[in-house]
Amino acid sequence: MKISKAVIPVAGLGTRFLPASKAIPKEMLTIVDRPTIQFIVEEVVASGIEEVILITSEGKSAIENHFDYNFELETILKGKHKDDLCEEICNISNLIDIVSVRQKKPLGLGHAIWSARNVVGNNPFVVLLGDDLVLSDTTPCTLQMLNLFDELQESIVAVQRVPKDQTDQYGIVEGKKLKDHVIQVERMIEKPPPGTTDSDMAIIGRYILQPEIFDLLGKTAPGHGGEIQLTDALLALSRKRPIYAYEFEGTRFDAGDKLGYLKAIIAFALRHPTLNKEFRKHIKEVAADL
Ligand code: G1P
Repeated sequence: MKISKAVIPVAGLGTRFLPASKAIPKEMLTIVDRPTIQFIVEEVVASGIEEVILITSEGKSAIENHFDYNFELETILKGKHKDDLCEEICNISNLIDIVSVRQKKPLGLGHAIWSARNVVGNNPFVVLLGDDLVLSDTTPCTLQMLNLFDELQESIVAVQRVPKDQTDQYGIVEGKKLKDHVIQVERMIEKPPPGTTDSDMAIIGRYILQPEIFDLLGKTAPGHGGEIQLTDALLALSRKRPIYAYEFEGTRFDAGDKLGYLKAIIAFALRHPTLNKEFRKHIKEVAADL
């Protein structure tokens, strides 16, 4: 079955990034020369997905505007013969079809995903969380997961190993190895205190979900932090049909965290087609002074 839709929740307040996110969505903070959300949408496009469903809230219209045409700007750029820049701006608008759905109450990630139920319909779909940027040298993380889905045809969550004293920052997966990089999930716990699980497999913000998740999300009681947790609904789903955890290839950055954001900027700048050489030189000079 072909997966054609990606849900990207962007309704969160971005409290970890205040004051920068006071008046602009945290998803619009830039990594070198483009907002973090553009990297996420580009990963979706590079993975062959055809439609993005943004789950938004008040104050997030800058994200919709970024992916829409800006007729005035395009006319001005054309008048100034800045055709390259004009093309780059248009290319962002042409990337992919985008639909917005409002999350009407801030009830958590699980509720945000549930808000997409009517637009997604009865098909498996992809979820990408905007805080998690994944740099992969070969295949985008979402495409790696879609390739695995072709084989397994069941829900998949992306995971990576984290230090055991950080389990309280993630959804944690317990399970048994199916094959290299793939674990069959037996239990999932949202942000367990260190020492309460033997697992160090943390969920990273990439999911492929079977549509049954919507019914389960509708029945999920508030969990960790008083919010409706996607992890809790996934645990319920795992009791009905298999769920797999996939150790993806690539480096993940938590761009919703100040230090993770800085690390992402350095990593992406070092790979930037025009800035990389000068930036590498600068970084070496800075490092030599430390
Ligand atoms: C969410 C999920 C959590 C996951 C994390 C990955 O938490 O609830 O299971 O490990 O994303 O970034 P959040 O970081 O939104 O609190």
